[in-house]
Amino acid sequence: MFDSTIFKKLEKNDFRVLVGIGVGMRNHQWVSSEMLPSFSKLPFAETMYRINRLLRFKLIKKTTTPYVGYRMHFDGYDALAIGALSRRGLSAIGERIGVGKESVVYEGLYDRKPAILKFHRAGYTSFKHVVRQRNVGGQQHGVFVARDAAGREHDALIALHGAVSVPRAIDYNRHVVVMTVAPGGELSKTKVDDPDWFLDEIVEQVRKSYALGFIHSDLSEYNVFVSPNGVELIDWPGYVVTSHPNAEFLLARDVLNVLKFFNRKYGVVRDCEEVVEYVKS
Ligand SMILES: Nc1ncnc2c1ncn2[C@@H]1O[C@H](COP(=O)(O)OP(=O)(O)O)[C@@H](O)[C@H]1O
Ligand SMILES: [Mg+2]
Repeated sequence: MFDSTIFKKLEKNDFRVLVGIGVGMRNHQWVSSEMLPSFSKLPFAETMYRINRLLRFKLIKKTTTPYVGYRMHFDGYDALAIGALSRRGLSAIGERIGVGKESVVYEGLYDRKPAILKFHRAGYTSFKHVVRQRNVGGQQHGVFVARDAAGREHDALIALHGAVSVPRAIDYNRHVVVMTVAPGGELSKTKVDDPDWFLDEIVEQVRKSYALGFIHSDLSEYNVFVSPNGVELIDWPGYVVTSHPNAEFLLARDVLNVLKFFNRKYGVVRDCEEVVEYVKS
């Protein structure tokens, strides 16, 4: 994962070559040393000097079969995203606060204010897999899967903000989304003294999302933050639109996850079908 000591050592031309590898990977599983100078716009010798540094920093990986070539590590992609975000408003990366199924989440400072940096990791496993496969297009490379997930999450946060209680998207680049810090704590880890009120708040947000055409599709006590002021729904890359063929199923599953949690932990009893009907009304 991201290592600030390495990041600080990176020079402009290291970035150029890293960017070049990213560009080459759109069409090639491995980017050959012959292709690289044209992508990086640097002379061959300089390119090779940079390649060796990037290998040493473990930001890229080398193969010798079927030809000598290079591809990005997730760490290299992290460096590119952090580089881009730093040129805009990111000034610090702090504690790692979450490791989810498909992301690693850090606190940070953006425009001198606290922010959340979510590094998407969807595709990380298939990323290892891809290496062993043949004839796999660059598009399926793990970093691109993660980038698409970040793009989806960013889109959802932008579309929902203002109407639904979600973090505000501040910026994003490649597979990293920068957003505001959700107030309070995860529902799963917080004891609330008015569960009915919080459940109503969640259902209300689900309803507002639905009205805008969005179904979360991964809703659970882990993706809801609660504070005395209300709730915030996080973790949106898996959303579907309400016209999606599985929309009904996914909406019911979201609602059921939340109802089951409130039943298990607080003994609250609600009828799932009724809640789903309410959400859709
Ligand atoms: N905006 C946020 N504010 C506060 N904590 C967050 C925020 N986004 C993510 N987190 C923390 O990081 C964890 C993982 O993020 P999440 O978006 O749920 O991704 P995953 O798909 O990995 O579950 C969350 O459970 C939460 O603890
Ligand atoms: Mg989550």
